[in-house]
Amino acid sequence: MHIQFTSTANEDGAALIVFSAQDLVLSEAAQRVDDASGGALRKAARAARFAGDLGKVVELLGIAGTEAQKVLLVGTGPQGRGNPAGFERIGAVIAGKLSRSGSTRTLVDMRGARDLGLDVSEAAARLATGLKLRGYAFDQYRTKMPEQQKVSLTDVEIVGAGDDAAPRFEILGAVADGVAFTKDLVSEPANVLYPESFVERVRALNIPGLKIEALDEAQMREAGMNAFLGVSQGSEREARMLVMEWDGTNGSADVETVFVGKGVTFDSGGISIKPGAGMEDMKWDMGGAGAVTGAMVALAKRKAKARIVGICGLTENMPDGKAQRPGDVVTSMSGQTIEVINTDAEGRLVLCDAMWWAQETYKPKRIIDLATLTGAMIISLGHHHAGVFSNDDDLAEKLIAAGAASGDKLWRLPVGEEYDKQIDSPIADMKNVGGRDAGSITAAQFLKRFVKDGVEWAHIDIAGMAWSSKPGALFDKGATGYGVRLLDEYVRSIYEG
Ligand code: BES
Ligand code: MN
Ligand code: ZN
Repeated sequence: MHIQFTSTANEDGAALIVFSAQDLVLSEAAQRVDDASGGALRKAARAARFAGDLGKVVELLGIAGTEAQKVLLVGTGPQGRGNPAGFERIGAVIAGKLSRSGSTRTLVDMRGARDLGLDVSEAAARLATGLKLRGYAFDQYRTKMPEQQKVSLTDVEIVGAGDDAAPRFEILGAVADGVAFTKDLVSEPANVLYPESFVERVRALNIPGLKIEALDEAQMREAGMNAFLGVSQGSEREARMLVMEWDGTNGSADVETVFVGKGVTFDSGGISIKPGAGMEDMKWDMGGAGAVTGAMVALAKRKAKARIVGICGLTENMPDGKAQRPGDVVTSMSGQTIEVINTDAEGRLVLCDAMWWAQETYKPKRIIDLATLTGAMIISLGHHHAGVFSNDDDLAEKLIAAGAASGDKLWRLPVGEEYDKQIDSPIADMKNVGGRDAGSITAAQFLKRFVKDGVEWAHIDIAGMAWSSKPGALFDKGATGYGVRLLDEYVRSIYEG
């Protein structure tokens, strides 16, 4: 989708977007359409019980007095209560209505929108962001898709947005690019996206200043990452540990913050194999790695003034003759031993070594890991919040605030030594499962054992958030891109405030 801010308005054949505040207070552009059509706009609005509520739409086809193909009257909510975030939703609503509608071009007429009490440049940039986010589609494997279902909308022109809109959208649009890349990674099936191809995709982006390295299995073995490698050993595909670094400080800052993502490109459960029904969902068990990667892309593309490292533990979890067995004991890079009771609790085995490697290598002040770690997370919070677990109140609060500001919402759950007993093992330092009770918390408690003294740590369980079976406000059904805007906003709030 090509989005541009223009100074001339060409309605010809376009889907024309005009605005109304609450109580049918029409913008200058909307009033012009209403006048030219002999009052058709207001008549249609009343007939549809449209009152100008934020994000509500009346669609008019074949309207007189304009060359536009169709006109969408879009509500902006109460007049004078400038709501920039609301304009993201408005952009998303427009994308949802028009993306596959047959319209190829839309003209968003924001002239006179200032009269509705808006910071027009900010509103326009946010609207463009919502359009870009919600306009994402993943259709490349649909070779026989009926013409009427295909994405038609390719060009968006926004007129009357003011001079600041384009530079603001350059930043917001870079973050939306990160979100789209995450959705690509999460949407790809596991025969296409596996550890090596994941790394290749990131390299192929060729983003200036984004440093990319990858450890292969020999290097990981050398480092002692036997918990991670135990997960990978039943797969024909080689594991990788992807390391990305963005430095927007000209080398003046140390690596203070490291993001770590769970990147299980397919989770069959291993020998503790999952039931068949729904197993296809486990192609998105790399959602944490996807979010970390998308966030690094966003930070690099918008040239964030911060130095950040992102690490992804990439592997499949498969059950072949060489696969790890329940009861096996592995020695993690930290030296702590783990009895693998259930090979399906593999994410924590990957993360514990990736986190340890990160601490040994960078001596960071804090690590934030993202993972589709436990089904129990979905039982606790459903699909509206990710769970956050932390050993540091200030870090947890900053993340929750970034979640609220970005829309990637978080809810805190506890960690604490009360839960340790559940993961004590009679033959090793710990076991990898803690029973049914508090399943998400015992997983976090397991990870906490791999956080060095003095290091701030937060674990974000995104099992309920990476994928959606229904469209949301800013995404279609499928991959949501959850986590990218959260991490971007977190970086903004602590380094660029
Ligand atoms: N990747 C799954 C968790 C998951 C389940 C994410 C459903 C998204 C949707 C994880 O590796 C897993 O299998 N966890 C087990 C842990 C259990 C064996 C302690 C689970 O949640 O059942
Ligand atoms: Mn699993
Ligand atoms: Zn998993």
